[in-house]
Amino acid sequence: MTTATKPRQPILKTSLPGPKTKVIMERDAQHLSTSYVRPYPFVPDHGEGVWLSDPDGNTMLDFFAGIAVSTTGHAHPHVVGAVQEQITKFTHVCLSDYPQEITTSLAERLVKHVERPLADGTDEKWRVFFGNSGAEAVEAAVKLARNHTGRSHIISTMGSFHGRTYGAITLTGSKTKYKRGFGPLLPAVSHVPYPNPFRPPLGSTPEACGQAVLNHIRELFVGVIPSDEVAAIIVEPMQGEGGYIVPPADFLPGLRALCDEHGIMLIYDEVQAGMGRTGKMFSYQQFEQYGEVQPDIITVAKGIASGMPISALLAKESVMTWPVGSHGSTYGGNPVAAAAAHATLDLIEGVVKHPGCGESLMQNAADVGAHLLTELKKMQAEFPFLGDVRGQGLFIGLEFVKPDGSPDGALRDRASTAIFERGLLNLDCGEAVIRVSPPLILTREDAETGLEIIREALRELS
Ligand SMILES: Cc1ncc(COP(=O)(O)O)c(C=O)c1O
Repeated sequence: MTTATKPRQPILKTSLPGPKTKVIMERDAQHLSTSYVRPYPFVPDHGEGVWLSDPDGNTMLDFFAGIAVSTTGHAHPHVVGAVQEQITKFTHVCLSDYPQEITTSLAERLVKHVERPLADGTDEKWRVFFGNSGAEAVEAAVKLARNHTGRSHIISTMGSFHGRTYGAITLTGSKTKYKRGFGPLLPAVSHVPYPNPFRPPLGSTPEACGQAVLNHIRELFVGVIPSDEVAAIIVEPMQGEGGYIVPPADFLPGLRALCDEHGIMLIYDEVQAGMGRTGKMFSYQQFEQYGEVQPDIITVAKGIASGMPISALLAKESVMTWPVGSHGSTYGGNPVAAAAAHATLDLIEGVVKHPGCGESLMQNAADVGAHLLTELKKMQAEFPFLGDVRGQGLFIGLEFVKPDGSPDGALRDRASTAIFERGLLNLDCGEAVIRVSPPLILTREDAETGLEIIREALRELS
């Protein structure tokens, strides 16, 4: 006779925050930067897989992965082993000056996911620059696009997030608080709407909003920005911070064609949606079935190394033309972080299998994500304030609305807190969205636990 084991549940030993957590939070509030946001009274002490525990012994199910970073969950033995092995060899020798096998092979491995055969039978070649953070990869992308084209203007999107350094906050279009009091920012940057099918911009419809944005850019080229002064258009193929938004199918093919027409570099910021999260290595690859979408430059960070700081700028060889010494970084491509990236890729690609996650974490993200999306969509019937449930793979947004359909940020905040208090770590984004971005090792069973917590919390609000 087999006995069914009960799925693992969060353990809540104290009310949140517990006494030890409270002490750390008080010290944190006294000594750390006043800019840090502290949305929930939680302090991590140790983690295991999709579970994170605080110093009071409360164990939470992680549905946000440190903002889509902890691809392999917490303290994955394969990642820990790779880090331990590398750290005993050497921790740092500046990559800008000395090649290192571990970063050479990481670059070779990353470009395999974008290089395609060319019409003449040869392979398109790509190259990689390594940095430490998403913002650094974005800065590098802008510098490369300007240097390569000899043009200055950059077009970005509203609702976007590209990071906190000067160039990156200039490109960011999600919140004015990121910019207030910090100007002047980078010159020659414009923002256009992002084609959000749930809230179509420019008076368009869900189906036509991609074309509406492309037409808007064409109009700018006629009357406002000379297209031959535009170095690049940077876009998140699926928008993260802005609300976990999937654009319509014809948007990226149209954008690619528009960039080709005007000699503009197309940059995809894959920092949040990339590295297997949507069920493909890069989120733009979800749109390959609709036409030519290959960009010129890609930025990657977050999920690449399970939390070790490393980022990558991938560019076509024909585009990476900046001269020797023109760009570099002391720590970028750090070998310990590169070891973590290799181990993370082993699991994403399925070279190493994770128990209960099928062939690869990328496939698991597609499968468990599809199940989560279906079940969350079903909840819309019970909870009419769930105006939209959208996403792909483990990149899912729940948008809260008022009865008139406008965004309900206050209700989202209450929902987010109610979910947290039941033991599920989550995070907001956009105006009224909760993002579901768990580690890619989330099993179907743990997904069910999360769904039940969300359902109970939403019932409390109804
Ligand atoms: C799409 C995107 N680009 C860039 C960044 C900046 O990354 P980092 O915080 O590592 O600088 C983020 C961070 O949230 C992001 O979501």
